[in-house]
Amino acid sequence: MKNILIIGSGIAGLTAAIKVCEGGGNVVLASPAHSERSQSVMAMGGINASLNTKGENDSTHDHFKDTINGGKGINNEKAVKKLTSNALNVVKWLGDIGVSFTRDENGNIDLRNFGGQKHKRTAYASARTGKQIVSSLTALCRKKEAEDSLKYIKPWRFLSLIITNDECIGAILFNENTNEIKAFEADSVIVATGGMNKLFGKTSGSTHNDGYVTAKLLEQGVELANLEMIQYHPTTIETPIKRLLITEAARGEGGRLYVIKDGKPWYFMEEWYPEFGALMPRDVVSQSIYKVCNDLDLGIDGKNQVYLDISHLPDEFIMSKLDEVYKTCIRYLNLNPCNEPIPVYPGVHYFMGGIKTDENHKTNIKGLFAAGECSCQYHGANRLGGNSLLGAVNGGWIAAEYALNHESNNQFEDNLINNVLNEEKEKFDIWSKKDISSNSVPLFKIEENLASIMNNSLSIYRNEKDLNNSYDELCNMEKIAIKADSRNDYYSYIRLPSLILLAKAMVLAALNRKESRGSHQRVEYPDLDDENFKKTTSLIFKDDNIEVSFK
Ligand code: FUM
Repeated sequence: MKNILIIGSGIAGLTAAIKVCEGGGNVVLASPAHSERSQSVMAMGGINASLNTKGENDSTHDHFKDTINGGKGINNEKAVKKLTSNALNVVKWLGDIGVSFTRDENGNIDLRNFGGQKHKRTAYASARTGKQIVSSLTALCRKKEAEDSLKYIKPWRFLSLIITNDECIGAILFNENTNEIKAFEADSVIVATGGMNKLFGKTSGSTHNDGYVTAKLLEQGVELANLEMIQYHPTTIETPIKRLLITEAARGEGGRLYVIKDGKPWYFMEEWYPEFGALMPRDVVSQSIYKVCNDLDLGIDGKNQVYLDISHLPDEFIMSKLDEVYKTCIRYLNLNPCNEPIPVYPGVHYFMGGIKTDENHKTNIKGLFAAGECSCQYHGANRLGGNSLLGAVNGGWIAAEYALNHESNNQFEDNLINNVLNEEKEKFDIWSKKDISSNSVPLFKIEENLASIMNNSLSIYRNEKDLNNSYDELCNMEKIAIKADSRNDYYSYIRLPSLILLAKAMVLAALNRKESRGSHQRVEYPDLDDENFKKTTSLIFKDDNIEVSFK
């Protein structure tokens, strides 16, 4: 019987765990926190599948085309084919395991409009789709735990992979409560650890999805891709600790974006893009909001904000279909969206880039698979709303299948795993005996500086000078990070140098892509350059050097 280690317990990790158990394998599912705290829970708007319950002649082929167009042609087409053709099975399966999708008057799963798609294709559960999916998956995982095929361990943090002869045979994990460091051997490892939010500080994502696993994998020779492709969600609000989403469903259900021009509301998206209006793909909406506020100086109250208006929709409609929007506005803005427009601005929301996989979710290291937001294959230069939940379920499902099929032909040295484990334990011992000199910089200050560098140079529009400056600053930061004062927090201490390396890789990816495509807009190169760059940006760390190439 195969033993599969799964790191991360959001939707991709939970799905993979269930599918491995259903396929006859044993699972250890490791996570720093409960699934209920995962990023997946925050996904509100819905999940795409060409169910065609609205009689609009939707098809998997149209879903495929929209996904490729939205991603500006650098998606992995084979992967997108599998994604869009399996979407119907995914939604059916979710319904079967208890996700209560909102239904229309005929009892069919209701569909709503989402950006960049001509058909109503997004199935949803009010504005709580992610929560609903996580609840159903966790209930099923509990059953697998009771049957003894699944062991769900918390709070275990990933430290490093165990790799021999280019094959992954497990990972070293760290228990944050007890400081225990332990080796977990496995036939295959599936990584499902979400986005790289710590690099940017305040994003719409969970702070648990900090990017460390992706960073450490880069350090250990795993190929990453398209790191420069960062999605700014057009409609977010700022709160003291993070940005919060006002779901795209608000625009899908008829919400309008405007600013005041010449004393009157100006619906700029409807004027600039009459076909889709505020439901253009997210990269275009965010770039438009940026232009309205920064180039035309028309931000509401002179600030970086535009209005999102849903007040023309009936109150009972808002309360039933956009309930989370209502609650968020009341709780964080003290504003009733049934009566007033919501001030919004784009914020970092999703990382299209990450651990490069093929259409079967295999990485360049045998026995290592990746799924969900940490992985890169489906979304190209810009993800369509509603494709992330789909990608997470589908990715977990496929990764489980191929992880179970993986056959190792490695002859392990007996003491290899012990050697790797001892190395990690030694690092911890050195840290615990470290003398914190009075002139060392508090670690959180360095993290804040890291986020500010990344937000400045990798914003909606990027330029060569800022990117070069950022790269130099990150190189300097590497020297300071070694002396950081992390007090009692070992995990933050070991995370920092890896995050700086990942940040450097991201900046290099943006510097080297000398064109504008989707979410990557370079002011010096405003046009699409298909000849040189209709390609995947590949990043490999070799001989202490980050190699960037286009494949
Ligand atoms: O706006 C939203 O509800 C986000 C959905 C998504 O990122 O897919």
